[in-house]
Amino acid sequence: MAKTSTSVVVSKSDLSKIKDNALLIGFFKDKVSLTGDLNKLDNEYGYIISSNIKNNNFKAEKGEAKSIFVNKNIKNVVLVGLGEESKYNLDILSNTIADVSKRLRDNSTESFSIYLESFKNNKLNEEELVEKITLSCLIGLYKFVDYKTKDKDKTKKIKQITLITNSNKNFNKESVYASAAAEAVNKTRDLINTPPNVATPEFVADYAKRLAKKANLKCTIFDERQIDKMKMGCLIAVGKGSANKPRFVVLEYNGTKGKKPIALVGKGVTFDSGGLNLKPYPYILNMKDDKGGALASIHIIEACSKLKLPVNLIVVTPLCENMIDADSYRPDDILTAYSGMTVEIKNTDAEGRLILADALAYAAEKKPQAIIDIATLTGASTIVLGWIGTPFTSIDEKLSEKIKNASKKSLEKVWELPLWPEYEENIKSDVADIKNISEEGDAGVIIGATFLKNFVNDVPWVHIDIGTTVWSKSDKGILTKGATGATVRLMMEMLREWE
Ligand code: BES
Ligand code: MN
Ligand code: ZN
Repeated sequence: MAKTSTSVVVSKSDLSKIKDNALLIGFFKDKVSLTGDLNKLDNEYGYIISSNIKNNNFKAEKGEAKSIFVNKNIKNVVLVGLGEESKYNLDILSNTIADVSKRLRDNSTESFSIYLESFKNNKLNEEELVEKITLSCLIGLYKFVDYKTKDKDKTKKIKQITLITNSNKNFNKESVYASAAAEAVNKTRDLINTPPNVATPEFVADYAKRLAKKANLKCTIFDERQIDKMKMGCLIAVGKGSANKPRFVVLEYNGTKGKKPIALVGKGVTFDSGGLNLKPYPYILNMKDDKGGALASIHIIEACSKLKLPVNLIVVTPLCENMIDADSYRPDDILTAYSGMTVEIKNTDAEGRLILADALAYAAEKKPQAIIDIATLTGASTIVLGWIGTPFTSIDEKLSEKIKNASKKSLEKVWELPLWPEYEENIKSDVADIKNISEEGDAGVIIGATFLKNFVNDVPWVHIDIGTTVWSKSDKGILTKGATGATVRLMMEMLREWE
């Protein structure tokens, strides 16, 4: 597996003393001038930086980067455009830094430094800066090359990034947090990107077991026989059509005493063919990403344990593969969920909500203070917010506030959708307690959530639908084509401030 082999360090030093392959300096549009330490550096380098700026070669447009070969202590000075100062924010900072890091890596640069002062403005403090730059470099530089045997670029790696500061502060806390969060994001991406012929339910369960051992987590794995014995009728039914049998994994972390746990429930469908309601091409492509919620939750609990956050967590992941076989579950079947509720199947492709029904009811039994489920539940999530953000629903205002606050801090965009009782009509069944889809087909994300609401037993609950944001088609900024690690940064921010 691709490890985060890049290290990001903070160093208090004089600009003229730095020896590195490249030095990144940020500039705002209409404010491209050298002051203080930068002036000194320019003097030492025979005015090569200022002459480049004077020649109007660099306008500091957002995303612009101009490399100047100086071949002194610093080989290249990279002028980085941040656009207008009034529009500058952490999003722009993160994506710009990630883009430049990628470019340097692709040009075979092995290390570079960043002059922190030049990326600051009066809205951002240095702690935020260190944290976000570290995180965005480590996330932006991610690549999944495990299955490439001939890729020449595979060996290109940035070994060290040095953040140059003139402050006496110790940024240890921010560095440690950012590295742990980035590692959790990248490991989540690795496992989601792993193909479905390799990453079966058993494979993911074994992976979780190994990870739990290293991170000191309690780990309980139920196999198909035990899942059946527990009467998780939905998980059993969905997993029936596959030769790769289901697993049910529970991880626990105790970081504090006397507090109820927070439960994270992650959808883990290792491949979603749609079942008998088979997905046609091209919709069947990429359905290995249907395990995204499970892998995010597994790495979130690992990172919380590494950071020793003062919370108690329980992660519940139902793992199965939705396939076709003589044994497959079918439309018209009526399943009995773990809670005892009966579910009429109208579409075998709405399998996520079924396995989550069992997992949510199991989680609710543990009497947690909150349940958060993370699931690639619907394609309809794309209709609501496109590729930019993640829709969520909630039955508890305090909990949704926590999510919204964490969203602002983590830069992972989310938007709350309503759970009005009127939607409940849409999933009433003629023959069972509920049915698994609404035949109208509207409001897909909300209908999915309305179904799940039946299984949380009134525990404060949030449902996060990463159907779209689990995957990126773009290589821009902190994104890399493929799995994104969606919700990892969001949940880490939420848990870090949990009270
Ligand atoms: N895993 C899919 C959701 C999905 C679709 C995620 C496309 C990412 C991209 C889920 O199991 C599913 O198939 N949902 C159906 C629900 C429908 C049958 C009500 C969907 O969204 O089409
Ligand atoms: Mn499906
Ligand atoms: Zn699915």
